[in-house]
Amino acid sequence: PAGAPDKALAKKITKVGVIGAGLMASQFALLFVRRLQVPVVITDLDQARVDKGVAHIRDEIRALAEKGRISGDEANRLAALIHGTTDRAEFADCDWVIEAVFEELEIKQNVFADFEKIVREDTILATNTSSLSVEKIGAKLAHPERLVGFHFFNPVAVMPLIEVVKAPATNDETLSTAMVVAKNLRKNAVITRDTPGFVVNRVLAVLLGEAMRAVDAGTGFGTVDSALAPLGLPMAPSALLDLVGLKVGAHVLDTHHNAFPERFYRSENLHKLADYGTLLERDAKGKVKGF
Ligand code: CAA
Repeated sequence: PAGAPDKALAKKITKVGVIGAGLMASQFALLFVRRLQVPVVITDLDQARVDKGVAHIRDEIRALAEKGRISGDEANRLAALIHGTTDRAEFADCDWVIEAVFEELEIKQNVFADFEKIVREDTILATNTSSLSVEKIGAKLAHPERLVGFHFFNPVAVMPLIEVVKAPATNDETLSTAMVVAKNLRKNAVITRDTPGFVVNRVLAVLLGEAMRAVDAGTGFGTVDSALAPLGLPMAPSALLDLVGLKVGAHVLDTHHNAFPERFYRSENLHKLADYGTLLERDAKGKVKGF
């Protein structure tokens, strides 16, 4: 969809802002601090959420040091570069602000509209949305040309890919910066069009949707998992749903179903399971219970 972006256009990143301190945000906040070695400020709706996210990041830094991946000094330096806050004014001097708040269009639109008033006019804005339209997310921005999709995969530390999503308004400077940031994070970046699910989730939604269709039709979850094992998937569908999160999984399927109802399955059961808990319930042997 686009020619190779000109690296010379990329902006230098000296401070990163992370909006949201949940599972994805705290994983990539750590990656930013570790690979870019710049201050990372992280925020959420309230202090309790911020504290939980920062505690998670500090635990991960400690685990890296215990495994010998980083020295004790490096661990201390990284921990000192992370700063949790509920004061949005601390985002004013960020060059790159990325969000991973709840996957709802209006929430993301409002988050960016609010933060646009705080950051500089040339701050790059990035969204980790997994399947919403980046163009629509930027609909309330005065400067949508500095918004780009920057989609990580779970677990962030291990998965090598970032989808860099070019919305119609995204300008060359923003795209180049995103590509250089991805490279500095030591990830492979692909530029995708702003279509539902981009590339990876479009394919994943088929797999998980069809797995759920079989389950909803009465095939046991365990049977679906073992039937697909010979394909050599890195994870069984039920494990992948747990990893992605049942709520996010249900949401991703819905987004695809809404865009292409004849092609993608919407599972009412998956919504019920997501309302019931965060993980599928399993027996002692790890098989999904009740399905
Ligand atoms: N967080 C951090 N690191 C993790 C991890 C986690 N949750 N899970 C595993 N790892 C690390 C391990 O520490 C290990 O690292 P070291 O070698 O440095 O010790 C490494 O990953 C390999 O782990 P294991 O040997 O224990 O396990 P494995 O070989 O079974 O691999 C896996 C684990 C990499 C997660 C593999 O199962 C896999 O690739 N699964 C598929 C994941 C996937 O498809 N993710 C995309 C989901 S879709 C998404 O995220 C996007 C969306 O928008 C919904």
